[in-house]
Amino acid sequence: MKIKYHGHAFVEVDTGKHKILLDPFITGNPNCDVKLEDVKCDYVIPTHGHGDNFGDTIELAKRNNATVIAIYELANYCTSQGVNAHPMNIGGAYTFPFGRVKLTIAHHSSSLPDGTYAGDAYGVILTIDGKTFYQAGDTGLFYDMKLIGEMHKVDVACMPIGDDFTMGVDDAVKAVEFVNAATVIPIHYDTFDIIKSDANDFKRKVESIGKKCVIMKPGEVLEF
Ligand code: NI
Repeated sequence: MKIKYHGHAFVEVDTGKHKILLDPFITGNPNCDVKLEDVKCDYVIPTHGHGDNFGDTIELAKRNNATVIAIYELANYCTSQGVNAHPMNIGGAYTFPFGRVKLTIAHHSSSLPDGTYAGDAYGVILTIDGKTFYQAGDTGLFYDMKLIGEMHKVDVACMPIGDDFTMGVDDAVKAVEFVNAATVIPIHYDTFDIIKSDANDFKRKVESIGKKCVIMKPGEVLEF
């Protein structure tokens, strides 16, 4: 599995056969390294309806004839916009042609930018070719992350560290400990002034609990 970071919470997963976009925030993302018209995908998984996560989901799905995988209410919205969507809900998993997707809880709010109800926010566990990737989504720290770590051997996790809207550095370090992720990528920070955060401080603290931290610049790829 290859993970390419595109700034903020936008991550592209490449299985070699399929491309899956998580939280494709391109329009309005000052740190994004790609243009909407250049992005190819087979599936799009937004973690909730907020503009900086749902982002360009509709446009990308239309251009690529891709399927959106989302919580029920958000999937219904996508369908109403003329896009193929697969509805799921928290705690449920489904095996797609590229691998298995499970939605987890996330403590966060959710609505579309125009105020449309979008169901709950959630995290995503992808299990592809025997490897497990956990995208925590926008969330505060929660104790049930321990359960995620007990039930799944997480190889790589993305954790928000920007504070204000999500976990900050210290809560995210505790999250890495709870999830027992071998490697963590910090996301959702420095995009805007309100979520400025010290990724190097996060890295030091993660390494002090015996875990690996990879700080990714937009355009960089991690293979595992
Ligand atoms: Ni959000």
